[in-house]
Amino acid sequence: PLVSMKAMLHTAKAGHYAVGQFNVNNLEYAQAILQAAEEESSPVILGVSEGAARYMGGFKVVVSMVKALMEEYRTTVPVAIHLDHGSNFEKCAAAIHAGFTSVMIDGSHLPLEENIALTKKVVELAHIHGVSVEAELGRIGGQEDDVIVDDAEAMYAIPSECEKLVKETKVDCFAPALGSVHGPYKGEPNLGFKRMEEVMSLTGVPLVLHGGTGIPLKDIQKAISLGTAKINVNTENQIMQTKKIRDILEKNKEVYDPRKYMGPGREAIKETVIGKMRDFGSSQTG
Ligand code: G3H
Ligand code: ZN
Repeated sequence: PLVSMKAMLHTAKAGHYAVGQFNVNNLEYAQAILQAAEEESSPVILGVSEGAARYMGGFKVVVSMVKALMEEYRTTVPVAIHLDHGSNFEKCAAAIHAGFTSVMIDGSHLPLEENIALTKKVVELAHIHGVSVEAELGRIGGQEDDVIVDDAEAMYAIPSECEKLVKETKVDCFAPALGSVHGPYKGEPNLGFKRMEEVMSLTGVPLVLHGGTGIPLKDIQKAISLGTAKINVNTENQIMQTKKIRDILEKNKEVYDPRKYMGPGREAIKETVIGKMRDFGSSQTG
């Protein structure tokens, strides 16, 4: 069933595992991720960035596509459709009205008070509709679609500010930027676990780890042990899908039917998602 992230993440936190947010870029991603979740008996969050929603034809197209697939697959696991890095109130409202069950309002580029005011406004609307909300403080480095943060701008979240934001806004989960990066890492990630622990004890809400691509398993496990209940992955699926497709096209110069390479590309996404669900501990079978 289509649900918000609220219960999903509380159950995950209590059970010491994390639910994966896997970003949907097109039909094959939605198929691969939903199939992986059902096979693994794992809850799942379908992340949709504003750029990806634009690419697919808008929020309503995304919701219709996901609902139709879930009906076709007779999906039994909990699924959330979540706006990833929502840039303003209007975008969050549009996603909610289109049927998204969860939104992120990314006010991380704003001064604290403005971030709080904006997040609060989104929470008020979202909670009327039973929609969950994620907020962010600090700045996650790297690039994801419209969100670009260069190295100098990347910033670790300050625990006391995190406490203030979570308490005043009543968000359902919270993403403190603690050294993770969107896209591939240059060298080993350097996650601020001490601060993560502090943020956890000050806020009490399930924490979100962005930039899940390329984080070593031991760091994933450490983050989960400190209260991380949601981990976002996009780039790794894209890399594995594209690698597969490139391989096929290089080996078979006469191939032109898209199903001949998009199909195997979809399998590569599915395998990657299954691996993550097992790493995150959300899989009931693996
Ligand atoms: O919001 C989405 C993510 O944080 C994905 O990060 O592309 O580095 O896996 P990633
Ligand atoms: Zn992110």
